[in-house]
Amino acid sequence: MARPRVLIDTDPGIDDAVAILLALASPEIDVVGITAVAGNVPLDKTALNARRIVSIAGRHNVPVAAGCAEPLSEAVAEDSVVHGHDGLGDLTWDEPDVALDPRHGVELIADLIHEGPLTIVAIGPLTNLAVLLQRYPDIDKGVEHLVIMGGASFQGNVTPAAEFNIWADPEAARQVFAAEWRITLMPLDLTHQAFLNDADLDYFTSLGTDVGRRVARMLEPYAQFHERWYGNRDVIMHDAMAVYEVLDATAISKQGVRVTVETGGEYSRGATFIDRRRDHAQSQVRVGLTVDNDRFRAVLRERLATYRD
Ligand code: BDR
Ligand code: CA
Repeated sequence: MARPRVLIDTDPGIDDAVAILLALASPEIDVVGITAVAGNVPLDKTALNARRIVSIAGRHNVPVAAGCAEPLSEAVAEDSVVHGHDGLGDLTWDEPDVALDPRHGVELIADLIHEGPLTIVAIGPLTNLAVLLQRYPDIDKGVEHLVIMGGASFQGNVTPAAEFNIWADPEAARQVFAAEWRITLMPLDLTHQAFLNDADLDYFTSLGTDVGRRVARMLEPYAQFHERWYGNRDVIMHDAMAVYEVLDATAISKQGVRVTVETGGEYSRGATFIDRRRDHAQSQVRVGLTVDNDRFRAVLRERLATYRD
């Protein structure tokens, strides 16, 4: 069977960077494009960061395009410092030797859908996908699978109600969940089960490669952020869960749900209501429930070890 063709829509982002490196090193899938969206940092930085990651991975054949610079309604108020000022932990980088694709990110996604079955891994705010739906009505029916990192049932991370990717563009998220594609959602309730610790950072350093050293150094400020925010240095691998799902559909348990997104609300803008009642058991929208972190970490270690200088 042909490997799934995968487009990654992203706002790198330290955990986005790990997710992209995991995807690019995985033989189960064929990464055919990467589109940047504003999110963790503004679009000029997320697009540059996407090129940096593809460049250190040595995958110059993978097109990288810049998509939407602003959410559908309110702009994100300020740069997040969760991922450093540049979005990747403020390391020193060479100019990436991967050019930006001249197409708008939304057009790259549309072209890839028209060329054949496509799986989309969305690990940033959902603006690009909402604009895709607006420009190309019915295009959702041409997408094989959409895997999203976003949302939360129990508790958000930007507000008590809202997770960052949904909070950053709730109107876009609402449109994406209203469309007719097969969606698998990885919310915080799932992603908080997947984390790396200092032993993993030491392992990546010990690989002695540029990718290994950079991953460890990017993760260090992210670990410090987690220590300040959550009280320990475990670094949560939110975005890698969306990639892990397309590598191995058995790794994460799931159930059918209905997802609605709060776009109003005095305290709850950007909240996701994930209806897990049995009525939705057969829904084409599913949510990730549990993951074996040891199994995930072993896969991540193995894949990142395949990069060579
Ligand atoms: C999500 O927000 C971003 O900061 C991460 O990259 C991830 O996509 C987690 O809430
Ligand atoms: Ca992200």
